[in-house]
Amino acid sequence: MSDLPENEKDLLYYGNEQLIKTALVNILENAAKYGSSSEIVIALTFNKGKDAELCITDRGIGMDKAEVDLIFEPFYRSQNANVFKGSGIGLSLVKSIFGLHNLKYDVKSTKGRGTRFFVFFPPAKGLPEAQHTETFAHEEIS
Ligand SMILES: Nc1ncnc2c1ncn2[C@@H]1O[C@H](COP(=O)(O)OP(=O)(O)OP(=O)(O)O)[C@@H](O)[C@H]1O
Ligand SMILES: [Mg+2]
Repeated sequence: MSDLPENEKDLLYYGNEQLIKTALVNILENAAKYGSSSEIVIALTFNKGKDAELCITDRGIGMDKAEVDLIFEPFYRSQNANVFKGSGIGLSLVKSIFGLHNLKYDVKSTKGRGTRFFVFFPPAKGLPEAQHTETFAHEEIS
């Protein structure tokens, strides 16, 4: 793992703060809920000029590969999750939010062992272009 950058601007990511927070809170809530009270490890790996990698790991109930393939579908809940409260909506929202931001993500999981969720934040390329606004001359309506 590399050290954090000297210039904290190298860690900037431009996106919708509220939406990104909502997505990350959903992932963390899942780690807490399905993590069997184990320690949750949150790691940020920085590689200059490459994606910063956020990694959230729990040692909880885990999932089969077939289940992992379905967890971003609305209302999907795996069988071993039934004892926990939930509606199966959180990760479909996460998928939409990351999709809107073009953010890559991945999930690795082993049933009975735990789950690791990755989010890849690309290096910032400067502030987004200022929004184009048009002004219209007031025209008399005849
Ligand atoms: N960290 C995890 N460990 C094990 N299973 C998980 C984990 N995160 C998600 N899952 C599985 O993916 C399913 C979908 O997750 P999602 O967050 O969308 O819904 P939920 O947690 O059931 O309900 P909510 O809408 O309240 O978030 C869960 O029901 C569970 O089966
Ligand atoms: Mg959830």
